[in-house]
Amino acid sequence: MASTAFLGSLSLERGVHAAGDDELKLALIGCGGRGSGAANQALKTAGKVKLVAMADAFQDRLESSLGNLRQQHPTKIDVPPERRFVGFEGYKQAIALADVVVLAAPPGFRPLHFAEAVNQGKHVFMEKPVAVDGPGVKRVLAAAAESKQKNLKVVVGLQRHYQPGYLEIMKRIHDGMIGDVYALRCYWNDQGVWVKEREAGQSEMEYQMRNWYYFVWLSGDHIVEQHVHNLDVCNWVKQAYPTKCVGMGGRQVRTGKEYGEIYDHHAVEFEYEDGARMFSQCRHIRGCWNSVSEHAIGSKYLADLSGHVIRDPSANNKIVWRYRTTQPVDPYQKEHDDLFDAIRNNKPLNDAENGARSTLTGVMGRVATYTGQVVLAEDVLESDIDTMPSKLAWDAPPKSLPDKDGWYKISVPGKDVAI
Ligand SMILES: NC(=O)c1ccc[n+]([C@@H]2O[C@H](COP(=O)([O-])OP(=O)(O)OC[C@H]3O[C@@H](n4cnc5c(N)ncnc54)[C@H](O)[C@@H]3O)[C@@H](O)[C@H]2O)c1
Repeated sequence: MASTAFLGSLSLERGVHAAGDDELKLALIGCGGRGSGAANQALKTAGKVKLVAMADAFQDRLESSLGNLRQQHPTKIDVPPERRFVGFEGYKQAIALADVVVLAAPPGFRPLHFAEAVNQGKHVFMEKPVAVDGPGVKRVLAAAAESKQKNLKVVVGLQRHYQPGYLEIMKRIHDGMIGDVYALRCYWNDQGVWVKEREAGQSEMEYQMRNWYYFVWLSGDHIVEQHVHNLDVCNWVKQAYPTKCVGMGGRQVRTGKEYGEIYDHHAVEFEYEDGARMFSQCRHIRGCWNSVSEHAIGSKYLADLSGHVIRDPSANNKIVWRYRTTQPVDPYQKEHDDLFDAIRNNKPLNDAENGARSTLTGVMGRVATYTGQVVLAEDVLESDIDTMPSKLAWDAPPKSLPDKDGWYKISVPGKDVAI
């Protein structure tokens, strides 16, 4: 297992353009569920692709991902022990060995990993969200600008942009079919996700990294980590990003120590520059009304974006347009098909700036629910509240630490007002 520098001899230029049927070398950074899925999809694209390097904070995660990928693609995996990098720093060596990188560690690391990939001149597939706080979004925006200058291709895992039903309804909305849009609704209300119990002998850093969903510096809270999908669809409708928001939230049911410091519900009203409002809810509570959806209320018609349906409210909500297909497309595969096609044929494709700006929408929503204040996008972007630990090491302390009884501080609106 390599943990010291192992730099390949690939030139930056090779990373920028690959001629038609050249073999593209892939590195996977963050070998969990989604990273392994994304690598599988990258390896299924047309043309020669080989996985040559992997990096993960934890050896067990890397090895289990490698085992699965080897079963799926026996001839496309070439990751000997010296190209498996474990720990916080391995991403640099893995990126250096590849033409294309998949970035799928917890979102708090995305700015660091994306900036490095762009600095090394590599094409990128990166999962959403792309940051968890203002300084992180700012860093991704800077790297996004650099990636465009370098003609790098970047796809962000906001896969609705690669789903024909969304693309078709969006085309109609942007062509004016539903009229002017001044109100939007979006939800990610469901039962929540996994939790990892604390194990004997773990340092605080290891515990938080294993149970990453429940710590803001790693996940951004679920309003950023999951709800970004729905916020992003509304931004796509508006072709703009909210400038202001107010909200409320808390933790009412998911209150145990194992749930770290995040809330279990948020409700936020976002405002766009033209005065339009987006009403957003996200909830992780079992036994309640669930919905993962987006809706736009137009001056003429109503659009159910997630259902790919347009209705006429003046005619008993009659359906006036519906997306139908007999050939469903897997958007998770399409993201990679488009990315590799763009790389091989030098087509324009760069989602990074939109990914960063929609991530900022989620972050400002969280700041609004945590503080209870009116929150401006520009203040969050300029905020110097950097949640990342000052040092990344197993014995280094994260910024948010439990008290002597194992409880983390939970933000209290009206009291915790720093933005
Ligand atoms: N687009 C989608 O529909 C979708 C679906 C699921 C997850 N995701 C996103 O994918 C990302 C990963 O989620 P997941 O469900 O795969 O989580 P996961 O916990 O299964 O995987 C994360 C992996 O990253 C590793 N890791 C942690 N810190 C690291 C570091 N500093 N360097 C390298 N590796 C590190 C972990 O050990 C783990 O193996 C998240 O951003 C999540 O929001 C997107």
